[in-house]
Amino acid sequence: MTVNVVVTGAARGIGRAVAELYAERGARVLSADLKLPPTLKGQERVRADVATKVGRTRIARAARERLGRVDVLVNNAAYQGAQGGVLEVSEAGWQRALDVNLTAPLLLVRALIELMPVGAAVVNVASVQGLFAEQGNAAYNSSKGGLVNLTRAMCLDLAPRGLRVNALAPGAIATEGVLEAIAAAPDPEQTRRDYEDLHALRRIGEPREVAQAVYFLGSKEASFITGAILPIDGGMTASFMMAGRPV
Ligand SMILES: NC(=O)c1ccc[n+]([C@@H]2O[C@H](COP(=O)([O-])OP(=O)(O)OC[C@H]3O[C@@H](n4cnc5c(N)ncnc54)[C@H](O)[C@@H]3O)[C@@H](O)[C@H]2O)c1
Repeated sequence: MTVNVVVTGAARGIGRAVAELYAERGARVLSADLKLPPTLKGQERVRADVATKVGRTRIARAARERLGRVDVLVNNAAYQGAQGGVLEVSEAGWQRALDVNLTAPLLLVRALIELMPVGAAVVNVASVQGLFAEQGNAAYNSSKGGLVNLTRAMCLDLAPRGLRVNALAPGAIATEGVLEAIAAAPDPEQTRRDYEDLHALRRIGEPREVAQAVYFLGSKEASFITGAILPIDGGMTASFMMAGRPV
């Protein structure tokens, strides 16, 4: 039976890699993003802001009409623009981070729940920054920390429906945003090495490496895994010496 998947934030980065991997493996994918995601074989697209009711309703309608059933929901879209620490972050930035990164996954599950059969799975893309904090990044840290525990709450509350819910905690991944940040640094080569040195494997990850873990957690191969938070971080969080070290 064809696997039907909804991926948010699929226009670029990790979300795009997730949509591509599912499409390659024969799934039917509904990609949702603020911008229209690229066309892929077997892929449906919808422009939607997951932080708004209008956007979530649009995703739910497209899922109902074009997929009919949702086997895997990947909550991947995130707002990473709220700069500043506890004393600096703007209220608007804080709120947007919570709306996109924490509240949207909750409300999107509610919007899609009637389309999710027994055996369906939710995969939330959190971050190592949901496990530890980074100085000067209060809103993102807090939203991802919330998403980690929301994953556990979803695991418990949706298990009676036969659904599994897990989260990933990626380290630094070579997405457009991270590569742009490295290129914009005063010393890009040193900055890249600094990023790499945060990880025990001394490199940053590839979007595809996160996508493969999403695919596994969404699959029947992971049928007894729920409520888990899986680091995809090249060993970053294995060591208290590296975890949380400022880049
Ligand atoms: N790249 C990394 O190093 C890294 C590390 C840890 C965790 N993550 C997490 O992985 C996920 C993907 O990260 P990325 O680096 O690929 O991000 P990205 O910024 O490259 O892409 C995010 C996509 O989400 C979309 N998006 C943002 N807000 C949205 C909204 N309100 N509604 C719909 N779409 C929206 C954007 O348009 C964009 O296409 C995020 O949850 C991020 O927090 C990334």
